Amino acid sequence: MSEVFARIAGTGSYLPARCVTNDELSKTVDTSDEWIFSRTGIRERHYAADNESASDLALIACQRAMKAARVDANDIDLIIVATSTPDMVFPSTACILQDKLGVKEAIAFDVQAVCAGFVYGLATAEKFIRTVAAKCTLVVGTEVFSRIMNWQDRTTCVLFGDGAGAVVLKASTEPGILSTHLHADGSYRQALCAPGTVENGKIRGSPMLTMEGGAVYKFAVKAFEDVAWEALHANGLQPDAIDWFICHQANQRIIMHAAKRLAMPDDKVVITVDRHGNTSAASIPLALDVSVREGKIKPGQMVLMAALGGGFAWGAAIAKW
Ligand code: ACO
Repeated sequence: MSEVFARIAGTGSYLPARCVTNDELSKTVDTSDEWIFSRTGIRERHYAADNESASDLALIACQRAMKAARVDANDIDLIIVATSTPDMVFPSTACILQDKLGVKEAIAFDVQAVCAGFVYGLATAEKFIRTVAAKCTLVVGTEVFSRIMNWQDRTTCVLFGDGAGAVVLKASTEPGILSTHLHADGSYRQALCAPGTVENGKIRGSPMLTMEGGAVYKFAVKAFEDVAWEALHANGLQPDAIDWFICHQANQRIIMHAAKRLAMPDDKVVITVDRHGNTSAASIPLALDVSVREGKIKPGQMVLMAALGGGFAWGAAIAKW
């Protein structure tokens, strides 16, 4: 039997209608456009409406990705949702999404690797396809981080936004995802967390996001560099073989710092964080979709993705388009 590969066949994304600029945010939070933009590159972020949940955002992103890939609900046999802000404790957001999409009998589950969730999901879906356990999968990152912001903490609440991004990953005779590389180190779990839980019907601890910004920054730059080299070496590539570097869109300074260490020219670095802030697991598929629809990513090009999130969990993937 000939080898089976996994290829990205379509992308889609969705940002909720409500867009809040730095200036607007500074009316309720003690901050400024100058502070936020100069330290993070963020100009604005989107917030979900009260009646919009992670599965609602994912639904629109997936419908757009399915349209781009020219597949319908009957074709999908696996749905992986990457989220840290699920609709409910259980069932999984993937099962809720499966029903909303009208998909029947597909395998459906969530992965939780915070901002690295999409790369973890992509790696998992790729293995399903390579082992012929699935043929046509949806991998979606979807987040409503506005629901877990501490609005009294200006060091975090200005950074995050809501959104969703999705890809359709299909079996192919041609290589698409060339390799994936995943890592985690739970000894850093307190550096970036939402430590609350539900116990006997009450919330125990704080369910709001807390972050040691400096520690995250330092770890992230090194992790992006190391995991990007790991992916390049695994494929016998040098950075100049990469057409687009899509790093987790958390902070433009972190992304450019990592790109510089990889000697990646600025014009190969995708930046969308200015338009949506840090959307955690949604950020890489959002940036992918924007790049495809803007005509940047073209067939045959090489895309290097790298992500890091709470845990810490991090990873990279190289895709041939
Ligand atoms: N508006 C105005 N002033 C602020 C704000 C704000 N929103 N937030 C903090 N400040 C103040 C601080 O109080 C401090 O004031 P002080 O000097 O009087 O005490 C001053 O600004 C500097 O604070 P620092 O924390 O030192 O600011 P720094 O330049 O390090 O930037 C930042 C902070 C942007 C959070 C940075 O540490 C960072 O980017 N960390 C990475 C965080 C991140 O992107 N996390 C996302 C999740 S992980 C990931 O996705 C990779």
